[in-house]
Formats: sequence, C-alpha cells, structure tokens
Amino acid sequence: MLIRQPTGKHNILYAQSKYHSAIYYFPRLMGLIVDEGVLGLSNGGVGDVSLVMRTGARMIGLVLFGCLCGILSGVFANLCSQNFGNDVRKAAFRRVMALSFEQTDRFSTGSLITRVTNDITQIQNLVTQCIRGFVRTFLLFAGGIVCMLSLHLSFGVVVACAMPLIVLCVLFFIGRANPLFAVLQEKLDRLNNVMQENVAGTRVVKAYVREAYEKERFGAANDGLVETQLRVLLLFSYMTPIMNMILNVSVVAVIKVGALQVGAGNVTPGDVMAAVTYISQILNAVMRVNMIFQMVSRGVASGRRVKEVLDCEPAIRDGGFDEAAAVRGKVEFRDVSFSYPGAGGERVLSHLNLTIYPGETFGVLGATGCGKSTLVSLIPRFYDATEGQVLVDDVDVRDYTLSALRGRIAVALQKSEIFSTTIGENIAWGDPAASEEQIRRAADAAQATEFIDAKKGGLDERVAQGGHSLSGGQKQRVAIARAVLKNAEILIFDDTTSALDLKTEAKLYEALKREYAGTTKILIAQRIASVKDADRIAVIDNGRLAACGSHEELMENSEIYRDIYDSQLKR
Ligand SMILES: Nc1ncnc2c1ncn2[C@@H]1O[C@H](COP(=O)(O)OP(=O)(O)O)[C@@H](O)[C@H]1O
Ligand SMILES: [Mg+2]
Repeated sequence: MLIRQPTGKHNILYAQSKYHSAIYYFPRLMGLIVDEGVLGLSNGGVGDVSLVMRTGARMIGLVLFGCLCGILSGVFANLCSQNFGNDVRKAAFRRVMALSFEQTDRFSTGSLITRVTNDITQIQNLVTQCIRGFVRTFLLFAGGIVCMLSLHLSFGVVVACAMPLIVLCVLFFIGRANPLFAVLQEKLDRLNNVMQENVAGTRVVKAYVREAYEKERFGAANDGLVETQLRVLLLFSYMTPIMNMILNVSVVAVIKVGALQVGAGNVTPGDVMAAVTYISQILNAVMRVNMIFQMVSRGVASGRRVKEVLDCEPAIRDGGFDEAAAVRGKVEFRDVSFSYPGAGGERVLSHLNLTIYPGETFGVLGATGCGKSTLVSLIPRFYDATEGQVLVDDVDVRDYTLSALRGRIAVALQKSEIFSTTIGENIAWGDPAASEEQIRRAADAAQATEFIDAKKGGLDERVAQGGHSLSGGQKQRVAIARAVLKNAEILIFDDTTSALDLKTEAKLYEALKREYAGTTKILIAQRIASVKDADRIAVIDNGRLAACGSHEELMENSEIYRDIYDSQLKR
C-alpha cells in the first residue's frame, strides 16, 4: 500500500508533542509505534526500534498507573457504598422499630425484610456504580470523542451516524425494563412473605400435612419472581448483540473513512488505528451507560421502596412528659372508643369508662374476641384510642414520652415471645441490669423455679428459636417472670396464665399479692377461677363494660357474670 506523507509539518517532534497533549494516550502511543517505530513515516520509511522500546516502556508504565488507580477507585468506591448501605440499613431498621403494629402490618413482614436487605443492596450497587462507572464512562466518552475528532474531523461522521442509533436502542430497552424493576422487588416481597410464614409456622404446616400446598404456594411466588427476572434478562440479551453490531459496523466505517483519508494524505495509518480504538471506547462507554441505566433504574425503584419506609411517620408519636408523677399505678379509661385502623370503622371498644386504682388487683373477664386485649393494648400505646382518653397516673398516655410511659408498664402478652438465648437472659429482658438473685426472685414469683432447676443448665439453659424447646406453660412462666422482674408500677397479664394449671396459677397470684403489693395488677382471663379473687373484676361484653365489681358484688348484680360463673364453675 502506498502511504503518502501527511501534508503539513509532520515531523517526529510534532508527532510526539501531539501524543503528549491527549488524555487518551494509549491509542496514540500505539499510533506512534506504527507510524514512526514501524513505518518510519517521518524518517523516509526507516523504522525506529528504540522508539518502539521506549514507547512500549511508557505504555507499561501507563498500564501500571492505571492498575493502581483502578485498585484505589475500587477500594474507595466499595468503602463508600458499604458504609452508605450500613447507615441506610440502620436508619431503616430504626424506623421499622418505631412503626406501629398497624403500619408494620400494612407493609407486611416480608416486604420490610426485602426493603431492609435486598433493596438496600441494590442502592449500594448503584452507589458503587456512580463512583466507579459514571466518571470513567463520561471520561471514556467525552475524551474519546475529542481525541478522535482531533485526529481528523471526518471521523466525526461515523460518531454522528452511530450515536443516535445507540441512544435510541438504549432508550427503547430501558423504557421497557424500567417498570419491571419495581415489579421484581414486589415479587421478592411475596417470596419472602411465604418463606417467613412457613418457617415461623412450620409446626402447623407439618401438623396439618400442608407441605404440598405450601410448596405450591412457594413455587407460585418463585415462578412469578423468575418470570419477571427472565423478562428483564431477555430484554437485555437482545440489547447487547444489537449494540455490538452497531459497534462493529462503526469500526468498519472508521477504517473505511480512515483509508480514504490516508489515501488523501490527511492522516497516517497509526491515526486510523488510534481512531478505531477511540470509536470502540466511545461506543463501549455508551454501552456502559446502558448498564448504568439498568443499575440506576433498579436502584431508583429500590430507593423509592426504602424511602417509603424511611418516610413513614410513626403513627404513635412521643409526647414530652417524662417526670415522676405524684400518683403511681393508676389507669383510667375516659369514654374510650376504638376501632382498628383499616377495619372500616368497626368498633372494638365503645364508650368505655373505667378506673383502676394503684395497688389494685384488677381482673378483666369476657368471651374471646370481646376486646380485652385491645383494651389493655391502649395503655402502653400499642394503639391510640380513636375517641376518648386513656390516662396513666392522671396524665394522658399521649403526653408521655413513649419510654417514660412504657417504663411504667410491664406486659406479658397472650403469645409469649421467647428469644433464642438462655432462660436467664430471657427473663433479664425485663431489666438487663438485674442481678442473678433478682432474676431468681422473679422466677420464684412466676412459679418457674421448679422447671428451670429441672433443666440441665438451669438459668443458663439455651432456648431454641421461638421458644420451641419449652412447653406452652413454661414459656408463659418465663414471660411472666420477665414482666415481674421489670418491677413496673402497672403489671398487665394478657391471658398469660391460660396454659397454667389452676394450682400453679393460684400460687402465682398469691406470690404477686405478697411480694408486689404496691403494683397495680391487671389480669385478663377467660376462666372465672383466674380472676375470682381479684379486688375488682370488669366484665367486657362486645366492647362495652357490662359490669364491674368484686366477685360477690357481680354475683349479686350482674347477670352476664352469673352466666359465666354457672357455665364454668357450677357443674
Ligand atoms: N390488628 C387487628 N386488626 C383488626 N382487627 C383486630 C385486630 N386485633 C384484633 N382485632 C379484632 O378486635 C376484636 C377484639 O379482639 P381482642 O381484643 O384481641 O379480643 P380478646 O382479647 O378479648 O379475645 C376481635 O373481633 C378481633 O377480630
Ligand atoms: Mg386477647
């Protein structure tokens, strides 16, 4: 091939200074090796081996420098994104902890788990991409164009033709994939929900031989996830070959344009080689933009979901009151009505007036579903009354700070929550600073000492997750000991003695009366025998206070109470 000398002042000095000025050194160094080292264009066709060696050494130097920068950028990008993710995850978890029960239900447990784990990982990936990908892609793209045009303006024709095609291609695929990312995360929520329900409820699933059904349910959720995942992946598997095709055609076009320009003496073969590398860099950058778009779309969809959690204002807001009150252990319901949020306004409690005095042992009796648990859940503000006021120690519960209010109250719930640690630590949850002696005293009052001592490890015996290594009655007693240990002014047992035999229950109440005389004790029960000896008993019927008084008074005045008594005790 006849290679004409490019017109103008093309000597080796000019050539070298030209290579110095570019950001995009590498392709130019390649060009220098070809033009001067091999073809010897400015030396009458005599190549220069030492120039090849020197330039080669510079290229190796550049590679090492690039390698160092790559490592540093990787280290910093990962440090940054991991710490960012860590902060967001903690903030999201804090927010989840502050949500009310109703808000947690609205998100669903599975969705909250996905949001705090997978969604935040997606955002983390986006941050890494932002730091590593954006700058690099932009430099590759803009630098490539400048360098290529500086070789010769005619190469711009190729860029001008290829670019719109690629942009259209990216827009088309991103437009289609974008809505799928939000769907993808929802499908993941569904999968997590099924998984979580099944792991938590594995005993029931097995007892009812529902494995096949649950497997199908899991299969359906999983298929849904895979289907969406595949739609995204297939979309992008069309995209890459199409982009590659445009890239390859562009390379051929650059060679063609280059050959014409070499023929006309405007550029050298080395310039054409450099131009080919530049066009690949430019188009690669555009393809990378596609990856970044994908990551951004996904990150934005996940970001929106995490933001929903972070922005969810806790329904139960703190009041400002946290001083010691003059009264200790008084609870008053003033014309309280309540309906569960999202239950269509159906009243669970209706115009209820009730005062429980300090130190009193107060029984709450009623059929299942009449609203007993709901009533006491208003005291520690698990929910807020829809109408009326709940007062603790003569202060509206909404005026307290949550920690001050809940610090005054110890609740043992209907379903005992047991954590997977030792029995001792489970009890010490009520007061982490408690000494072993205090823990033992609480266990004594809760009638738990006997079974704890029968365990090999005693208080140090580890409990399986969910308390599965304890019987129902044992779990209840651990929960009772925990509540007792808290030594709060108001002690609430929500049907916590249902799994205890009457003798153990009687001993428990005796111990409470003896050792915690000053504490207000609210005992919810379905068995009349459990509350018969309380100072006063409230009978709840369908969300209303049907009667209130001592056992004797109620026997005399309340027909409902007599009915319950007759049905339970008179055989
Ligand atoms: N989180 C909830 N959302 C909607 N309705 C609820 C919720 N919890 C309980 N209920 C309804 O409120 C009523 C009273 O429930 P509850 O107070 O638990 O009864 P009890 O403790 O007396 O057996 C029931 O009809 C129950 O279905
Ligand atoms: Mg209940």
